Amino acid sequence: MKFEKVCSLDDFWEGDLIDVTVQGHVIILVWPEGSTPRAFQGICPHQSFRLAGGQFDGRTLKCPAHQWTFDAKTGKGINPGDCQLAEYTLKLDGDDVLVAVDGVEPRFSHS
Ligand code: FES
Repeated sequence: MKFEKVCSLDDFWEGDLIDVTVQGHVIILVWPEGSTPRAFQGICPHQSFRLAGGQFDGRTLKCPAHQWTFDAKTGKGINPGDCQLAEYTLKLDGDDVLVAVDGVEPRFSHS
């Protein structure tokens, strides 16, 4: 699995959301409160708006377009509940935040 540095912990904190692009994959990094950083698809499964402009309250992520809401720890849909964000593998190496995109494709529901 090939990891690529996407940012540093100097730029990314607990409760934070940032967007990055890795090998053409639009990705959001979220750091849920009391948890560890996660990397999910940055394109909404509903109608492909970018999630980076949405609201992140430390627990849930809300798409700016039509307010679909996702659990920031799992990527699972909360409203509606029958959707899921694809998750990329993220690891920390010192202060470096690394993401691998191998084998992960965004999910879309188009409903
Ligand atoms: S595009 Fe995200 S809720 Fe519609």
